[in-house]
Amino acid sequence: MKQPATKHALILGVFCFGFGLVLALTDLFTSKEIATRAMEDRQNSLSQVLPAAILDNNPVTNTVILKDAEGKEVTIYRATKADKITGVAFEIYGTGYAGEVKLMIGIDPASNILGVRVLAHKETPGLGDRIEEKKSDWILRFTGLALGNPPAEKWKVKKDGGQFDQFSGATITPRGVVSAIRNGLEFFAAHKQEILGAR
Ligand SMILES: Cc1cc2nc3c(=O)[nH]c(=O)nc-3n(C[C@H](O)[C@H](O)[C@H](O)COP(=O)(O)O)c2cc1C
Repeated sequence: MKQPATKHALILGVFCFGFGLVLALTDLFTSKEIATRAMEDRQNSLSQVLPAAILDNNPVTNTVILKDAEGKEVTIYRATKADKITGVAFEIYGTGYAGEVKLMIGIDPASNILGVRVLAHKETPGLGDRIEEKKSDWILRFTGLALGNPPAEKWKVKKDGGQFDQFSGATITPRGVVSAIRNGLEFFAAHKQEILGAR
């Protein structure tokens, strides 16, 4: 009785080892590919908010890591031209109708927005998804703005007394995005020395 049980255990062990080995090898071969894709993705989103004309470096390789008010790490990507910082970009997060909205904001050293783009969201197609550049030009209207332009009390959607259009039937998404952008500008203002300082 004992022998077959030992044999089965041995066969099972060999199978487990085999599958484990296959998984480990697959991970070994794909992890590099995944890292390369992630890097390309990052470069692509950065290129949308840091115009090519302002840089001669790869901002992915010039970063500063700071902590936000909740202690979460924020990676700041810095664009330089002739060794001078010409812009920075970092991810910002807003709360939409269906959850988190992830964006990338680019800001110049004078604190003006170079561009904002949505990286990921779960908002409703036809309602909240007009925050995407490919669905409407709404997100492009932030380019050139700054804290104070418009004044603080206008950094809201029109429905809340501010300057920015909400969408018909969808106020929650743009409200969350406007607030994320304003918070991003405030974060930049609060950490300007660290962001533009030591290289
Ligand atoms: C199925 C469904 C999906 C919705 N999706 C969104 C959305 O993606 N973004 C959004 O702002 N509002 C969405 N709304 C509408 C919101 O519930 C809300 O009515 C709208 O944002 C207007 O807000 P307000 O009443 O404060 O103006 C959705 C409503 C329903 C019923």
